Amino acid sequence: MAEHTITLTDNATGRSVEYPLREGTHGPSVIDIKTLYQDLGHFTYDPGFTSTASCRSDITFIDGDEGTLLYRGYPIEQLAEHSSFLEVSYLLLNGELPSRTELDDFSHSITVHTMVNESLKNFFNGFHYNAHPMAMLTAVVGSLSAFYHDGIDINDPESRRMCAHRIIAKMPTIAAAAFKHMVGEPFVYPKNRLSYSANLLNMLFSRPTEEYEINPVAERALDQLLILHADHEQNASTSTVRLAGSTGTNPFAAVAAGCASLWGPAHGGANEAVLRMLEEIGHPSRVEQYIAKAKDKDDPFRLMGFGHRVYKNYDPRATIIRKTCHEILEELGMGDDPKLELAMKLEDIALRDEYFVERKLYPNVDFYSGIIYKALGIPNQFFTVMFALGRTPGWIAQWGEMVEDREQRIGRPRQVYTGAARRDYVPVEKR
Ligand code: CMC
Repeated sequence: MAEHTITLTDNATGRSVEYPLREGTHGPSVIDIKTLYQDLGHFTYDPGFTSTASCRSDITFIDGDEGTLLYRGYPIEQLAEHSSFLEVSYLLLNGELPSRTELDDFSHSITVHTMVNESLKNFFNGFHYNAHPMAMLTAVVGSLSAFYHDGIDINDPESRRMCAHRIIAKMPTIAAAAFKHMVGEPFVYPKNRLSYSANLLNMLFSRPTEEYEINPVAERALDQLLILHADHEQNASTSTVRLAGSTGTNPFAAVAAGCASLWGPAHGGANEAVLRMLEEIGHPSRVEQYIAKAKDKDDPFRLMGFGHRVYKNYDPRATIIRKTCHEILEELGMGDDPKLELAMKLEDIALRDEYFVERKLYPNVDFYSGIIYKALGIPNQFFTVMFALGRTPGWIAQWGEMVEDREQRIGRPRQVYTGAARRDYVPVEKR
């Protein structure tokens, strides 16, 4: 069968060039236009990369129209029900589900790397008590590159594996330290006998003065949330990690860049924004008024936790998490929580309203994750940190894949220059 190609013709010069189509396992094929500039002297223009594949990847697949999310081929629904965050991390990093021994070895390696250098704790003293935890996380994760720089050879698979384990292991310790700094309590050291999520809960909520009992329902809900956030193909923060990493920079610095990118309210900051919005709305009786604001083009207000760049159907993560959200509120005796009532009313109206239906603006994962975090006792400002913890294995798996990909080069987009035409400098006294 002849190779499928697309022909592009420059109407001004009449020159035509055929470009090959590259097929993936699933999803649309891509036009390989690597030589376009060389052939026709033009760039492509695609702000926000809505039609541009920046890389090939074996890790995650999303079908936004169908509402499908696969990690290494496995549907998110199956992983969320049967797997654990550490097993999913292994899967993302290595491409296959681990055997029992591989999982035990991996869990052991993560567990023994959870401690951070004592001097790293001093960094927190430099932050004001009300510093945003994402600012602390970004800075302190980046500072890991000061501890591990000379020893890292990004071209050595063993060195990359060690970096991946270190960062997955140390992120919760750093995140919990940021939390304790925020609430003015002493840092809690990691405990190796606990699971990843139980250890995180313990580092966040235990105090030297009293026993802290880990609620298994909270532990499972947290683990599930982390699984749902673990990867999401070439989203803004992952693309940032890849772009930063494409220069050959230290991987801890690349992950810090990912944290900075995640922080924005259009991305990982949305879960925090959802709670702020629910607080602003305040009462179910005011929902209609806010729906009207969201639809008003002259009003910048948007319904936080609604819509997605890729999912133009229901976000499959939202379906899973909606159920967990109800379960956890029930378990914690918060079934009548007024925020949930308000959230459900908002969801109900938006799902029926023509404006939202037409534009396929469904609730996304952040709509529910914020409510669960709140129920677990995590403050709004800290929600994006939880997202960052979940996304860490995805960032580091994507970074590793990029380093191994012989086709990848330093990321360097082009532009259409629309500024002033070439002109000569005029001395200040003549202007
Ligand atoms: N509320 C009201 N209107 C909206 C919303 C919203 N949340 N989202 C999109 N629209 C409208 C938008 O005004 C536009 O209308 P029109 O066609 O009349 O101009 C239309 O829907 C398409 O919007 P868009 O901005 O072109 O869509 P996008 O794909 O560029 O944006 C988004 C995606 C997620 C940034 C956006 O939907 C949004 O701002 N949502 C709220 C923030 C949020 O929940 N973000 C979390 C994303 S999920 C977590 C993650 O994976 O990072």
